[in-house]
Amino acid sequence: MQDPFGRSISYLRVSVTDRCDFRCVYCMSEDMSFLPKTEVLSLEELDRLCGTFIRMGVRKLRLTGGEPLVRRGIMTLIDSLGRHLQTGALDELTLTTNGSQLEKYAVDLFAAGVRRINVSLDTLQADKFAAITRWGKLDKVMAGLKAARAAGLQVKINAVALRGVNDDEFDEMIAWCGREGFDLVLIEVMPMGEMGDATRLDQYLPLSMARAQIQRRWTLDESDYRTGGPARYYTVRETGGRLGFITPLTHNFCESCNRVRLTCTGTLYMCLGQNDAADLRSPLRASDGDADLEAAIREAISRKPKGHDFVIDRRQAPTAVPRHMSVTGG
Ligand code: GTP
Ligand code: 5AD
Ligand code: SF4
Repeated sequence: MQDPFGRSISYLRVSVTDRCDFRCVYCMSEDMSFLPKTEVLSLEELDRLCGTFIRMGVRKLRLTGGEPLVRRGIMTLIDSLGRHLQTGALDELTLTTNGSQLEKYAVDLFAAGVRRINVSLDTLQADKFAAITRWGKLDKVMAGLKAARAAGLQVKINAVALRGVNDDEFDEMIAWCGREGFDLVLIEVMPMGEMGDATRLDQYLPLSMARAQIQRRWTLDESDYRTGGPARYYTVRETGGRLGFITPLTHNFCESCNRVRLTCTGTLYMCLGQNDAADLRSPLRASDGDADLEAAIREAISRKPKGHDFVIDRRQAPTAVPRHMSVTGG
C-alpha cells in the first residue's frame, strides 16, 4: 500500500476500545462519555479487519485503546492475531498499555507471540502519578512491569514530557530505566481533545530543551536503532540504555510516516493530527467477501494527508484536533 506521497503503509494501530481505567489529564476529560457497545466492532470483526490489512501489506500491528487490556475477551483477539506471526505475514504484534492489567496478562501476551510492549508512565512518584492519571495506582503498574519482565517481554516506557510536572524527574527515570533494562521514550504533548487550553500551553515542553537538560548529566550517543515508530533514539553511555524522543511539534517526522489508525468502531484515521477519516464498518458488514473492504481501504490510503498541523505557540491559538487521544490511542 502506497500513499500519494510515495510512503509505504506497513504499520496499523488498532484502538480496540475507547474505554480506560485511567483518566490521564492530557488524554481524557474526567467525565468522558463512551461509545455504546452497539457501535463497537466485535472481536471477530476486528480480527477480520486486521487480517485484511495484513493481506494488503501491513507488517506491524499495535493494539491501543483507551486501554486495550480492559476490553473483555481481548486475549481471544490477540491469540488469533498471533497466527499471522507464525505464518510470517506479520513481523510484530504489540501493544501500548497503561500497565494496570499486566500482572494478569503478561504471560498470555508472551504466549501469543508478543515480545515487546510500550507502557505509558510519566512519573515514578505515586502522588504525581495519581494527579496525572486521576484514577491510576502506581503500585499496580509497577507490579505489572515486574510481571512483564518475568514473562520475557521487552518494555519501552512512554513518558509525556510535561513542564513543571515531570521535567524534574527525567534524570531519575533514565537511571531507573537503565537499571530495569527498559527503553525510555519522551513525548511532546500534542494538542488533542480539550488540550488546546491554557494548561496545555503552560505544560508543553519542547524536547530540544529537555534533551539539553538531560545532556548536562548524561552522555547521549546517537543510535540508528529503529522500531518503525516515530522515535529517534540515543544510547545513554552511562547506563547502556536507550533513550528516544518523539517530537511532533519541534521536529516533524511526517515525511517518513508509515502508519494509519483504526478505531474500535471501524473508522480509519489516515493521520493522528487530522480529522479526515474513512468508514470501514459499512463495507465490512455489507458482505462476507473482502473486496469492498479492500477497495475502501485503498481509497482511504489515497487520501492520506501529508502531515499534521499541530501548533503550540504563545503567539497564536493552538491548532488542536477536537477528538480525544483515547479515540485513536496515540
Ligand atoms: P514503537 O513501535 O515502540 O516505536 O512505538 P510507537 O512510538 O509507534 O507507538 P506508541 O504507542 O508507543 O506511541 C508513542 C507516542 O508516539 C504516542 O504519543 C503517539 O501518539 C505518538 N505517535 C505515534 N505515531 C505518531 C504519528 O504518526 N504522529 C504523531 N504526531 N504522533 C505519533
Ligand atoms: N500528547 C502526546 N502523547 C499522548 N499520549 C496520550 N495523550 C497524549 C497527548 N495529548 C500518549 C500516552 C501513551 C501514548 C499512546 O500516547 O501517554 O503513551
Ligand atoms: Fe488511559 Fe492511556 Fe488515555 Fe491515560 S493516556 S487515559 S492510560 S488511554
